[in-house]
Amino acid sequence: MFVSENLTVNEKNHLAIGGCDTVELAKEFATPLYVIDEDLFRKNCRVYKDAIDKYYDGNGLVLYANKALCTMYTCKLAMEEGLGADVVSGGELYTAIKAGFPMDKIYFHGNNKTDEELEMAVSNGVGHIIVDNMYELTRLNDIAKSHGVVQNIMFRIKPGVDAHTHSFIQTGQIDSKFGVALENGEAFEIYKAAHEMSNVNPDGLHCHIGSQIFDVEPFVKAAEIMMNFAGDLKDKLGLAIKKLNLGGGYGIRYTENDDPVPYDEYIKHVSDIVKDTAKKRGLNVPMILMEPGRSISAPAGITLYTVGGIKDIKNVRKYVSVDGGMGDNPRYILYESEYSAVVANKAGDEKTDKVTVAGKCCESGDLLLKDAMLQPAESGDILAVLATGAYNYSMASNYNRIPRPAIVAVSGGNAKVIVKRETYEDIIKNDVL
Ligand code: LLP
Repeated sequence: MFVSENLTVNEKNHLAIGGCDTVELAKEFATPLYVIDEDLFRKNCRVYKDAIDKYYDGNGLVLYANKALCTMYTCKLAMEEGLGADVVSGGELYTAIKAGFPMDKIYFHGNNKTDEELEMAVSNGVGHIIVDNMYELTRLNDIAKSHGVVQNIMFRIKPGVDAHTHSFIQTGQIDSKFGVALENGEAFEIYKAAHEMSNVNPDGLHCHIGSQIFDVEPFVKAAEIMMNFAGDLKDKLGLAIKKLNLGGGYGIRYTENDDPVPYDEYIKHVSDIVKDTAKKRGLNVPMILMEPGRSISAPAGITLYTVGGIKDIKNVRKYVSVDGGMGDNPRYILYESEYSAVVANKAGDEKTDKVTVAGKCCESGDLLLKDAMLQPAESGDILAVLATGAYNYSMASNYNRIPRPAIVAVSGGNAKVIVKRETYEDIIKNDVL
């Protein structure tokens, strides 16, 4: 009935998540409100972990990609499920450290890390740094030397694979700001350089081809290309690649039209090609890493809003305005992304009305859903937008000086605030008169 498996309709005809009535949640914690189903988040972590056990005899590590949703609490959940962490900035690294993440399970990404960020990573003993370019490599080697350590690294490789997704979130092709390309020899040169340096240990390869991908084929292709590159590094440089990090990008269901491949299936196909290519090239099967973000947190999250004004412009469009918008979910304005929604207090009713859900920001493009089917909404109703657990809170802003909503985690009928709602005081706290 709903795009996410965890949602139900209770006896009051209200939408329920994690055993909690969403209308009650809205009453208790106010709206807009992000709600995360802790059990589904955990379950989604386990899908990947189980696949590693099944297809690679446990020789792997799943890294939760924090960019999807990074809070101390979600770090704790991922950690308790035995996952590692992919972090992409000093801020995400700081959050993971403060949440008590084991440092050896942290992988630090980013296409333009500052000296301060590299210093922070090295001095805290981060497990791996995914180096993006030669400029970073040289600085990192110096920083590691000044700390008297040899830093484990891998490079981000552009495998030259075209993933069929929105061009803004496609990253595996040569024309990308991320990483070094294979086809022009850049990747080989950077491994050669690192191999000759004293304070870095290039023991792995990394690639990430894009996000919200529904095909298995580009993942398989990328894995094959990476394994062949590992073969070249061994043959030409005598460099043994022990870890292969294949990134994230697994697509999820935002609307009824989305039909993602079961994650286990991606991983099975990828493992076949990794093992075959290892055999062909005389390599050991490396330790496998993957970095799912969206597919862990998005389905676990919903956002609750209160419906405000409704404008039915005859023969044009019906706008239903809510008390949030692009500030808490900028994905429509960035990617024209699609969502599905439910009037939470009429959750079991039929969706008979075609509406456009608008936010409250001073921007015409500030929409959450365009021409979507919904139960007939009235002012004061609670609207739930589904599958908002990834790239909503993490990309939220204070545009129009609107405070960011709270996040509440639900499980077994209990709800607790894991991120407090911002106040107007928070909004001005860094202002200086
Ligand atoms: N690893 C790396 C190196 C990445 O760059 C990303 C996403 C991931 C893992 C996680 O990918 P996921 O499993 O979540 O697809 N803001 C966009 C998505 C940007 C993704 C950036 N990198 C959106 O809202 O769709």
